[in-house]
Amino acid sequence: MSDKKEKIVAIKGMNDILPADAPLWELFENTAESVLKSYGYQKIVTPIVEETGLFARAIGAVTDIVEKEMYSFTDSMNGDQLTLRPEGTAGVVRAVVEHNMAYDGPKRLWYKGPMFRHERPQRGRYRQFFQFGAEAIGFSGPDIDAELIMLCRRLWDDLGLDEIRLELNSIGNAEERQRHRADLIAYFEANIDVLDAEAKRRLHANPLRILDTKNPAMQDLVNAAPKLLDYLGEESLAHFNGLKQILDANNVQYTVNPRLVRGLDYYNRTVFEWVTDALGAQGTVCAGGRYDPLIETFGGKPTPGIGFAMGIERLIELMKAQGEPAEPSQCDVYMVHQGDEARMKAFILAERIRDAGLDVVLHCATPAGAGSFKSQMKKADGSGAAFAVILGEDEVANGTVAIKALREADAAAQQNTVAFDEAVDYLVDQIVSGHDHDHGHDHEHVHYHP
Ligand code: HAM
Repeated sequence: MSDKKEKIVAIKGMNDILPADAPLWELFENTAESVLKSYGYQKIVTPIVEETGLFARAIGAVTDIVEKEMYSFTDSMNGDQLTLRPEGTAGVVRAVVEHNMAYDGPKRLWYKGPMFRHERPQRGRYRQFFQFGAEAIGFSGPDIDAELIMLCRRLWDDLGLDEIRLELNSIGNAEERQRHRADLIAYFEANIDVLDAEAKRRLHANPLRILDTKNPAMQDLVNAAPKLLDYLGEESLAHFNGLKQILDANNVQYTVNPRLVRGLDYYNRTVFEWVTDALGAQGTVCAGGRYDPLIETFGGKPTPGIGFAMGIERLIELMKAQGEPAEPSQCDVYMVHQGDEARMKAFILAERIRDAGLDVVLHCATPAGAGSFKSQMKKADGSGAAFAVILGEDEVANGTVAIKALREADAAAQQNTVAFDEAVDYLVDQIVSGHDHDHGHDHEHVHYHP
């Protein structure tokens, strides 16, 4: 047997996000955060691990997530039953009730972070994935529904994503669903031969979910099934129509999809999904809806709620498919130095340049050594920095530094000697006055051209 160590790789369905993709992630997150802020949403962070019972209660016992996708385990220290969160709404609602947050008026909240579902991995479907979500707690009218939808539209616009369409439905309240459910079960029972095994299993537990089936042999059957929309009472209809009116007045395009039912049990009335055809089978980039009864089931006083969550990986894929790749992030200055004394000076100068608000990469030794002047200059070129600051024995002896512009076409000609104590001012002046940067120095190193 060889004594070579076996490689350890990441868990199946769980991805590393490498530096090459980091600028796009940053761009997505910054844009989403600023859109949410522009609508008055505040950040909330809840734990990644919660009691298993939280999710069963919130999401529903007879759902794919709770039945077969949760990463649940026993805490070996105390025997507690815990679960890695499969989604964010349950934790946010728990926190809202636990901290009495809804008692002094409605709240607009947002969150981001990793979620975990033991699904079969494929393109756009992972076992650890990141969501960006919003929850509006304590608002009852269709105006907040419209606001959340329009907030998403603004984000797609800001990101230059135009291949995303909106599907909308109302699934009414519990009583309306109950009446529909009875008719739905009767309808499916009358057509039991057409149902597949999964549908038969769900027939009495969660017949609404049968409408979601992808089985081609069942499409005619589900298309002709009783539609929940036809069972809506006056109030639910008024809510749905009110939402559509606001969307129409604001020129938001949508399709009413009567088969849109969502895979989590906490929804009532408005449900919606933003879908793209550009990503293959996993084309839902954002999904959400109203969950008015949920807070009460957590022991809070009756408080309406609505929210959405978007899958960040899917949106990053879409950004890649629709735009030019973001340029890698670049720094302002790369410090090149030769000799012990120069290295000490370089450290001091690098800190001073950072104090002035610029980004500095200081050359550091590798197992191959400190590197020749030539190899260090190659690194400086490759770093994408605007300037190389060079400290050699001569510079140390003279109390100067050499500053070389790296990005100009005539960069070779652009090298100046500057007194050590004036180097910071010189660099700030060059960089902030836009001598080099075409975008001014806004510390926005990410370029993305949708
Ligand atoms: P969801 O439909 O389960 O809803 O997930 C929302 C979004 O997360 C999906 O549309 C998709 O973009 C992304 N997503 C879900 N599962 C995966 C996966 N395995 N891999 C990659 N991306 C995935 C919820 O989670 C609700 N909490 C949304 C919500 C918030 N409703 C009200 N408030």
